[in-house]
Amino acid sequence: MRKPKVFITRQIPETAINVIREYYEVEVWRDEKEPPREVLLEKVRDVDALVTLLSDKIDREILDNAPRLRIIAQYAVGYDNIDIEEATRRGIYVTNTPDVLTEATADFAWALLLATARQLVDADKFVRSGEWKRKGVAWHPLMYLGYDVYGKTIGIIGFGRIGQAIARRARGFNMKILYYSRTRKPEKEEELGAEFKPLNELLRESDFVVLAVPLTKETYYMINEKRLKLMKPMAILINIARGKVVDTKALIKALEEGWIAGAGLDVFEEEPYYNKELFKLKNVTLAPHIGSATYGARYAMAELVARNLIAFAKGEVPPTLVNR
Ligand code: DGY
Repeated sequence: MRKPKVFITRQIPETAINVIREYYEVEVWRDEKEPPREVLLEKVRDVDALVTLLSDKIDREILDNAPRLRIIAQYAVGYDNIDIEEATRRGIYVTNTPDVLTEATADFAWALLLATARQLVDADKFVRSGEWKRKGVAWHPLMYLGYDVYGKTIGIIGFGRIGQAIARRARGFNMKILYYSRTRKPEKEEELGAEFKPLNELLRESDFVVLAVPLTKETYYMINEKRLKLMKPMAILINIARGKVVDTKALIKALEEGWIAGAGLDVFEEEPYYNKELFKLKNVTLAPHIGSATYGARYAMAELVARNLIAFAKGEVPPTLVNR
């Protein structure tokens, strides 16, 4: 019997590829960059399965070109790059990689929060560049002052797995935990000592605001000029969700004019990203979308992609289907 064919749009951990090979005829795009659009359009012509990353735009045109496609296994928890409605209409399964990256991503939200609050990146540059030695001041009471974290208020927008994992860590910092999500989660309020707040109230009351929502029509530009103006002047915004949840122009204005104190950003409106205006600001910490980038998480994500594909090949429902 013919093995189904899968196109994997980037190098994922080889151990998973080897497992997938037992069930599929596999082609891997091994370039660091995503396959160009015309290549992707060509590759999908005769595949039964696709493994995608968030930088692969899977829209109607791609699906039109993929008459045999039955499963798209996304190597990420978010899947805003895929036209889910259209895939579902065509009976194509879409799967993602929840859970396995939750803790790594929550850790990274905290890394950004602490680094931004305490100007860690700038302080590192100060020492490394020799500026400290040139300045000749060994220790000064007012050198590199940052913001207190312990005992402050954290407002988490989006209270799914990652939002909750961020809250769990906040308990260790003795913080007051506020959250906003589309639906209230009373059992989690109890478990995590978190309090639900309407969005604008959460923004007004939090010292740290962390975005952990998926990108949807409702969350697009959720943090805009009006909402940034509600935040405390000493507040810090952390985005580990998606760049388009924040209006970057408004954020730059907020940072320049001191409506808020700082921002830690792992995600951007376009990726890869370059923005002279944003990059010249000292009160931001920036990372190239590496929230889930630990050995453990990235290998586990690959294993989950493989489990989804194998379940499909065996005629079973894939374990982490998003379009049931
Ligand atoms: C995701 O999984 O959606 C992250 O943004 C990348 O790990």
